[in-house]
Amino acid sequence: MEVKVKVGKQEKTKAEALIVGVFEGSKRLGRDVSSLDKALGGAIREAVDSGDFKGKLNQTYLIPAMGKISTARVLLIGLGKEKEFTTDRLRQASGKSAVCFSGLGLASFTTTLHLVLKPLQDASQAVMEGALLGLYRFKKYKTNNEENGKMEIREITLLVNSVKETDQVSNGAFTGKVMAEAANFARDMVNEPSNRMTPSIMAKTAKLLAENFGFKCRVLDRDEMGRLGMGSILGVAQGSNEPPRFIILEYNGNKKEKPVVLVGKAITFDSGGISIKPAEKMEIMKSDMAGGAAVMGAFMAMAGLKLPVNVVGLIPATENMPSGTACKPGDVLKASNGKTIEIISTDAEGRLILADALVYAKRYEPKAVIDMATLTGACVVALGRHASGMLGTDEKLMTMIKEAGERSYERVWQLPLWEEYEELLKSDIADVKNSGAREAGTIAGGIFLKKFVDYPWVHIDIAGTGWDSKEGPYRPKGATGVGVRMLTEFLMGWK
Ligand code: BES
Ligand code: MN
Ligand code: ZN
Repeated sequence: MEVKVKVGKQEKTKAEALIVGVFEGSKRLGRDVSSLDKALGGAIREAVDSGDFKGKLNQTYLIPAMGKISTARVLLIGLGKEKEFTTDRLRQASGKSAVCFSGLGLASFTTTLHLVLKPLQDASQAVMEGALLGLYRFKKYKTNNEENGKMEIREITLLVNSVKETDQVSNGAFTGKVMAEAANFARDMVNEPSNRMTPSIMAKTAKLLAENFGFKCRVLDRDEMGRLGMGSILGVAQGSNEPPRFIILEYNGNKKEKPVVLVGKAITFDSGGISIKPAEKMEIMKSDMAGGAAVMGAFMAMAGLKLPVNVVGLIPATENMPSGTACKPGDVLKASNGKTIEIISTDAEGRLILADALVYAKRYEPKAVIDMATLTGACVVALGRHASGMLGTDEKLMTMIKEAGERSYERVWQLPLWEEYEELLKSDIADVKNSGAREAGTIAGGIFLKKFVDYPWVHIDIAGTGWDSKEGPYRPKGATGVGVRMLTEFLMGWK
């Protein structure tokens, strides 16, 4: 996507299409809109006065310009009530307009939506995020499909009033473009079916990403994991014919500091193993690597933005399959810190692969460790699709993550990790069991992970947010790319 910033007036600019944002119930059109309206012979005013266009959030109304200006058409986009306006509503409106133009088959458009909110840089970022996230589609397996060959939007121009504004708008637009492209990269990985996104393919993808963006990538195979005593992840992997991979990413943007470590669960398909899942909707379990994809996307973004931070990414990757060699309920595994785990459910596999990764994180003497995982169905029940679960040992870190969640609108909500919950996972024969009763399922997951951690740590459960079977204002249904923008926003504010 080519992004341009141009100084000029809407009524003078030459474009395939212009976007104009209008607040709901505003009696007076803003000054910039007024002159455009005049040039159009009052068409905008008329659309509003007649009540055809009320400015309700994400409402659209297309006005053909009939040669009155050098732009062919003007799209009115509703911004909702001015008092209720937010950065995310701007992101939504931008996404909705971009999708509208893509539906018309246009190749470019010009927008002024970033001018409705201050600071300009944040607004420009949100406008680019909304547009690029909104235009995302996963169509690679549609052969000879009309949609697949369709012309795409290749150029977006952000119009500004004066050269004074260009720096802020360019910077914001660049950040937004990097964020959205990284999230779309993660979406692509998650939407990929599990036969095309195996642990080995994930590792290859990570190596390619590292080469292209200039950071380090190392991959451990089954033997190397064995030598490190990673019996927990290997116990999950032993049921599958696909070999597991342990992916290590290292980004150095700061010479001195100890790193932040990001850990991402990457079960490329979760059948449940011997504790097999019901067949209905099992296909969605190709998305059980969304945590790993989010970490890879965050690396793409932090490298793209050249953030001055040190970050390590750890992505344990394997399938969870039933077979004659699979781990069975009742089996005992030994993790790389020597702790023994009684397997109650082979479907509580995410925490098992994370355990060895969290132990591995310790060697970096991390300032903070954040893990992202599609860990529990209970989290979907508790929080639904609008918030990820957050549990951890460091309140300050959690506050920072909560704020990054608000900025990116990939919001998190905290659940407790009180010591009273420890009894949920007491085993009769081993140090811990991997699953308890039905109560407090998400907290039990956190309690399990906490046993493998001794540094400031936060766990984010994205089971309800990594995949959405309904579409949103700036995303089609399917993989959401959740976590990429939140983690990157977090790193932008780190120290
Ligand atoms: N990958 C699933 C969790 C999940 C469920 C993600 C729905 C996305 C949507 C995880 O591995 C799992 O199966 N968890 C079990 C844990 C239980 C056995 C303790 C669950 O939630 O049922
Ligand atoms: Mn599972
Ligand atoms: Zn899983």
